Parts: sequence; C-alpha cells; structure tokens
Amino acid sequence: MMLVVLLGAPGAGKGTQAAVLRDRLGIPHVATGDLFRTALRAATPIGLEAKAYMDAGQLVPDDVTIRMLEERLGRPDAAAGAILDGFPRTAVQARALDAFLAARGGRVDAALLIDVPAEDLVARLSGRWICRAAGHPYHATMNPPRVAGTCDLDGSPLYQRDDDRPETIRARLASQLADLDAVVEHYRSTGALRTVDGREPIGEVSAALGAALEAVAAGTSGRA
Ligand code: AP5
Repeated sequence: MMLVVLLGAPGAGKGTQAAVLRDRLGIPHVATGDLFRTALRAATPIGLEAKAYMDAGQLVPDDVTIRMLEERLGRPDAAAGAILDGFPRTAVQARALDAFLAARGGRVDAALLIDVPAEDLVARLSGRWICRAAGHPYHATMNPPRVAGTCDLDGSPLYQRDDDRPETIRARLASQLADLDAVVEHYRSTGALRTVDGREPIGEVSAALGAALEAVAAGTSGRA
C-alpha cells in the first residue's frame, strides 16, 4: 500500500499535481473537496451539511469529513493506496488517518507540501477554471486551455467554482492556514514531510514532487 498526502494552502496546486501523481503511481486521486461537491450535486445529507461550510470558506467538521474519507479509502480501488488531496486538513484528521492506516498495517509514506506564499493564492484561485466532466484544472493566464472555455482533455465545458469568488477565497485563506500549519507540524514530527517550491511552473513542481517520492522510496531523503 502506498499512501501519499498532498498538503498545501487553497490554490497551491494540489489538484493539478495529484492528477500527475495518479498517472505516475497508478493509484486513485482522492480529494475530499471533490467528494463533498459530488455529494452536494447528489443532494445527500453529507453534501447538504458541507455546503454551508464550503460557501463560508470554512472547514467541514472533522467527524463528517473523517467518516467520508474512511468510507472512500475502504473501496476496492484504494486497496493499493491513494493520493490524498485536501485531507488531512486538521491535526485531528491527521491523527485519525494515522489510526485508520495503522489498523490496516499501513502508514502515510510521504506528506508532500506544495509551498506557495499567501499573496500568490488569490490570483491563482480567481483565475481558475475547471472542466465539468472530470475536474481537470486550468488557469486563465497561467495554464490556459487551447480553446477558451473547453477542456483540452475531454472537450467538456469549463466552469468556475462557487467558492472561487474573491470574498470566499479570502475567507478560505484566513480560516484555513493555521490548520495547515498544524498538519505540517504533524508530518514534520513523523518524518514523512517533504517540501517543494510551489511557485515554480507546473512541470517543475511535478518534477520536484517526483524526485521527493523517489528519495522517499529509496530511503535516502532527509527531513524537510
Ligand atoms: P478543496 O476542494 O480541497 O479546495 P482547496 O484546498 O481550497 O484547494 P483547491 O482545490 O482550491 O486548490 P488546489 O491546491 O487543488 O489548487 P489547483 O491545483 O486547483 O476544498 C474546498 C472546501 O471543501 C474547503 O474550503 C472546505 O470547506 C471543504 N473541505 C475539503 N476538504 C476538507 C477537509 N479535509 N476537512 C474539512 N473541510 C474540507 O490550482 C489552483 C489554480 O492554480 C488552477 O487554476 C491551476 O491551473 C493553477 N496552478 C496550479 N499550479 C500552478 C503553478 N505551479 N503555477 C501557476 N499556476 C498553477
């Protein structure tokens, strides 16, 4: 089992890089934000509960989020592992994940922090466009599609997330960065943390993450 956690502030590039790692490692990309948005579209109780928090830029309560994530990791396609994007977001979630994995003889193999200064994040999120069919992310100027408004990979229309409005972006950053620090410290203490510079172009960030994973696999990398 290979369990990789992608850490980063909202807009750091977790979803962009998770798609690259999924293709490289052959294990599923599990994003709690996507699970909540899917639940909301299906109008399930979890989706409806999460909506108020997401609209306010706040984290959904730990108990709901942990239950949803554990249910997802229990599905057959995650038996060989997963790339977690957006989970854990609090120290409570990090400890719950450790316990869940330990009960199955596993652990977090690598916690990869994509480090981007707060001042870059608003521009990234307010310019983001996402494909309707599969969630492939684009950026109006930094990563534009070949044809405006259309996904390069599957031709589906692009849309902007409700929580990518400037006022919600500011609320997400204000309320979530302290929790991110706590999760980073958790993985620093376990020795799983590796940090890459997320200000670099997408391909260079992918290469740095790949190198960090190879070093983890070879047991040669130092602590972050
Ligand atoms: P979630 O969907 O997880 O959103 P997020 O963490 O806010 O992260 P984003 O998806 O906004 O950003 P990203 O890091 O994936 O960046 P991306 O690759 O798209 O969570 C949404 C909400 O759900 C939360 O606010 C919360 O309410 C709830 N939630 C989710 N998980 C939860 C949990 N565990 N506990 C409690 N609540 C939870 O990139 C951003 C943009 O930048 C794109 O346009 C992209 O093209 C561009 N870009 C990417 N990399 C680069 C680069 N290197 N250079 C230039 N541009 C780049």
